[in-house]
Amino acid sequence: MPATKRSDYVSAISVRNVTRSYDGGVEALRGVSIEIQEGRVTALLGRSGCGKTTLLNLCGAMDFPSSGEVLIEGHSTTALDDARLTSLRRGTIGFVFQAFQLLPSLTALENVELPLLLAGTKGSEARAREILRWVGLEEKASALPFQLSGGQMQRVAVARALVHQPKLLIADEPTGNLDTQSGDQVLALLRRAADEFGAAVVIATHSAEAAAMADIRVRMRDGRIQGIESGGSEPGFAQ
Ligand SMILES: Nc1ncnc2c1ncn2[C@@H]1O[C@H](COP(=O)(O)OP(=O)(O)OP(=O)(O)O)[C@@H](O)[C@H]1O
Ligand SMILES: [Mg+2]
Repeated sequence: MPATKRSDYVSAISVRNVTRSYDGGVEALRGVSIEIQEGRVTALLGRSGCGKTTLLNLCGAMDFPSSGEVLIEGHSTTALDDARLTSLRRGTIGFVFQAFQLLPSLTALENVELPLLLAGTKGSEARAREILRWVGLEEKASALPFQLSGGQMQRVAVARALVHQPKLLIADEPTGNLDTQSGDQVLALLRRAADEFGAAVVIATHSAEAAAMADIRVRMRDGRIQGIESGGSEPGFAQ
């Protein structure tokens, strides 16, 4: 099933002819251009070191291009001051990491609620409970991370990433530490984030299952995009 019936997908992120060089001369990205679309799952694929995490960090405004530009909802990330970058990261983007990165001394519910507390959002506990229910873990609200399985921890992390209803959900190897069954549950949630919330979901992954459930597969090699395949019934996805 395609994510939506629309054929006029809206770009949440535009990556335009971007390079990224690290100190020491590594050219992690070399002339990358891609549109990341709302309501669709985009998978970044390719060998270790090909530039997936680097591209994700640029898409999440955690890092900046050496040349070219990244536009998030029409705003070039390099043109934003610190206050606007912070509000972009807190308001518009959700992150999921391979190693979950839950705070060990907070319960599942508190971990999920934390971004709302930092942003000063009212009704944060009720909202955190609601999204914890959405990931199927309401009964684990009071559990500490060490009392959860890896799959459960990652579902809490997905809830935390979605609690503020971000337009972009960025996931770096979200199933890398999980068994197949737990990984599939997490992938199903990422799929639903695109389908139900209309989020632009971008996943860097080595997993065949994650690649299979994506709408768009971006094959990278040596810092370049080798090819883009659209898995749905929407042909003509142009770079
Ligand atoms: N902070 C850094 N400083 C210097 N070089 C870096 C830095 N981060 C990444 N690199 C280099 O940039 C290139 C791309 O790395 P990146 O982490 O984006 O790859 P990746 O596709 O995510 O790999 P993996 O599948 O192993 O996660 C690699 O050659 C890497 O060694
Ligand atoms: Mg990586």
